[in-house]
Amino acid sequence: MNQTDDLATKIERQLKEESRIGGLMDHDAGAGLLNPYAQTKVGSDTIFAWFARYQNAKAEGRDAVNGTIGALLEDDGTLAINTVVDEAIRQAPPVEIAAYAPLTGLPAFLDLAKTLALGERRTELESMGIAMTATASAGGSGALYLAATNFANRGDHVILRDRHWGPYKGFLAGCDLKPRTYPLLPKEASPYPFVDIQGFKSELSNLCAKQDKVMIWINDPAHNPTGLTLTPDGRMAMLEAVMESASVNEKVGHTLLLDLAYHLYAEEPHGWAETIHDAMSNGWPWPENLLITFALSLSKSHTMYGLRTGAIVSIHPDQAVTDRIATVMGVTGRQTWSAAPRVSQFTVSEMHASHETGAAWSNERDRLKELLTDRRTALIDCCEQLGVPLNPTHDGFFAWLDHEQPHDIAEACAQQDVYLVPLTGGVRIGLCAIPLAQIPKVASALRDALQ
Ligand SMILES: Cc1ncc(COP(=O)(O)O)c(C=O)c1O
Repeated sequence: MNQTDDLATKIERQLKEESRIGGLMDHDAGAGLLNPYAQTKVGSDTIFAWFARYQNAKAEGRDAVNGTIGALLEDDGTLAINTVVDEAIRQAPPVEIAAYAPLTGLPAFLDLAKTLALGERRTELESMGIAMTATASAGGSGALYLAATNFANRGDHVILRDRHWGPYKGFLAGCDLKPRTYPLLPKEASPYPFVDIQGFKSELSNLCAKQDKVMIWINDPAHNPTGLTLTPDGRMAMLEAVMESASVNEKVGHTLLLDLAYHLYAEEPHGWAETIHDAMSNGWPWPENLLITFALSLSKSHTMYGLRTGAIVSIHPDQAVTDRIATVMGVTGRQTWSAAPRVSQFTVSEMHASHETGAAWSNERDRLKELLTDRRTALIDCCEQLGVPLNPTHDGFFAWLDHEQPHDIAEACAQQDVYLVPLTGGVRIGLCAIPLAQIPKVASALRDALQ
């Protein structure tokens, strides 16, 4: 049995167990023990449920396609592993495995986190007077939690696109925050085809009228669940909108959070740093009530999903602000997960410090990225030929079909042994899991499902 099957079996067993328990479960049980917010938490993850259906089909010997899970698989269905990272971890000295990391993270890792977020523009931004701080977190999820719990007032709204990663809602709800969304794509022809800039501006101005802090989350480049990436003009239009809003609403704190969960698999991984650099070079004054923060995840880029490693990286022209943020994030991490894992911080810092191992990681990353590019190109081509109206998709792990009845579409695909994930507003196609040879089958299942 390969690793993925093994994982799948465990998940399947867990799901069966949960549904057995669910059948017996009294939903009021524990009401006197659990607080009202805890009682709103219900189990059953859609993605794993559809993954289990794929597994059942496989177990029955059918030629089933797995487009459900959000981890990168090789074409043979095994988990894709960056072997350079794997080897480096196995060579880590025992003390780096056993010891705690410093509470805010290993200094070398914090330095690396800034470079991974900003790329080659980092030093230029620093020499333009931009101060930066990084705090190690338990994966990208930890960074999102640090942002949610510290940058928004309890009870407020946070701006998201209407298609977003489902757990965002949970991170927000846990901090008594609510999402306020704008459409993913503009309804009419626009110079910015991949961002509804009018919808975004309108939500921003609505919230500025009601709140004294406004936070915006955008997962770009390589958006989950669509694979969309903004163009340079789209990024600039968005940044200008936020900068203008911050200048006009001086009393409203603005935080633009860029979720970088998949950026190192994108064609332009550091496009946001490029855009910020361009804006500053064009003489844009950086309003002091504007913070830009990056939620960095090493889960996918370094195939360290289980090692829970990431960072929040915040940039602002005033170092007193970034110093204060460093303290707040460090204290929050301490009170939540104590310190993030040390061995992964140590290993990646050492790996990227050497030109040789850094280049080896990058070659391996390029190989994994090519899997995604080949699958995406094939899907776009097949969908074009079959008239399937796939959403624009550029980078990362996923592609997307917008649809008002996503369950019907996913169900019709499942009848053809193609397993995808129905989510709010459409169906997620996990290119990361689908072998290249099965892509045509996915496109024809979608075509048939739409008929
Ligand atoms: C959009 C997005 N953001 C953040 C994360 C968090 O990643 P992790 O906590 O595994 O590092 C994920 C993981 O799937 C994601 O899809």
